[in-house]
Amino acid sequence: MKALVTGGGGFIGSALAHALVSEGHEVRVFDAFITGFRENVPVGSELIEGDLRDVDAVRSACRDIEVVYHQAAIRSVPRSVDDPVLVDGCNVRGTLNVLMAAKEAGCRKVVYASSSSVYGDNPEPQLREDMAPDPISPYGVSKLAGELYARVWSKLTGLPTVSLRYFNVYGPRQHKESLYAAVFPAFVSALLAGEAPEVHWDGEQTRDFTYIDDVVEANLRAASATEEADGKVFNIGNGDAHSVNEVLDAVSKAVGEWIEPIRTPRRAGDVRHTLADISEAERLLGWRPASEWQDAVEATVEWFRSGAVTR
Ligand SMILES: NC(=O)c1ccc[n+]([C@@H]2O[C@H](COP(=O)([O-])OP(=O)(O)OC[C@H]3O[C@@H](n4cnc5c(N)ncnc54)[C@H](O)[C@@H]3O)[C@@H](O)[C@H]2O)c1
Repeated sequence: MKALVTGGGGFIGSALAHALVSEGHEVRVFDAFITGFRENVPVGSELIEGDLRDVDAVRSACRDIEVVYHQAAIRSVPRSVDDPVLVDGCNVRGTLNVLMAAKEAGCRKVVYASSSSVYGDNPEPQLREDMAPDPISPYGVSKLAGELYARVWSKLTGLPTVSLRYFNVYGPRQHKESLYAAVFPAFVSALLAGEAPEVHWDGEQTRDFTYIDDVVEANLRAASATEEADGKVFNIGNGDAHSVNEVLDAVSKAVGEWIEPIRTPRRAGDVRHTLADISEAERLLGWRPASEWQDAVEATVEWFRSGAVTR
């Protein structure tokens, strides 16, 4: 199979690209390296450096491709609050460009990386795909718009699409963007450097943290799912939740160091709880998460500790 991974220089895209290369597939990576890194692109893949907002570049990337794994986006909630126009251009217009180019190129399927942020601050204890989305950040709006375009493209043009709503992914190769770091790389790199980690809000906000290997597997299942999955969205979470304070405990245990955190206020756009109902992904994609929490935390810490991270 010949696959295109947009965002293959980023955390999730590069993990997926590595998995596809190691399974013997032909892989093309498309990335503008806005938040990603060239060294993440696997040896043995083809690299097209280009921007999602440039439709001609996206057209070239889709040529001769069977499956598009559309992972590229500006991922950060706070960044979307600071710069909504950038996020709209990359995440919404960029996704539309991918769908149009994939249809023109005759691709077999587009798997779209969506996000639990489309649910907003839903008070229900567990989030199901049939609940009304209600994003509370420009990022959430942009991921929802991408999903809607993917669904409409399936219906309108017959291009099969599957949207995966990831819930807080963590694992090796997740990067620490200074201002917009996700909680795992922020905690691990602070503790390894002997610095106090920053905990926003009271740390009792909970998330359904999902290990990267499980997310890669969900993408592979989505690409080979039957047409019953076409145009649909699926929660991709672990199906359990941990508070940010629990993450700090688990990371501290794996690092072997406790440093009292600096407590800072809630960030704009942050939700209180997320927890996925993953029964639809199990039913139609045949997917279930396989990782164990403490093993996955240790593997993540080990990757940072090994010095694999150079930035
Ligand atoms: N990491 C998570 O917890 C999480 C959760 C929910 C959804 N997602 C979604 O998963 C996908 C991957 O996220 P990630 O964590 O790997 O983020 P990431 O920042 O590590 O990777 C995103 C990649 O997309 C590239 N990119 C961004 N804008 C681009 C553009 N205009 N043109 C070309 N390339 C561009 C970046 O350079 C980067 O390499 C995103 O679509 C994100 O919205 C991630």
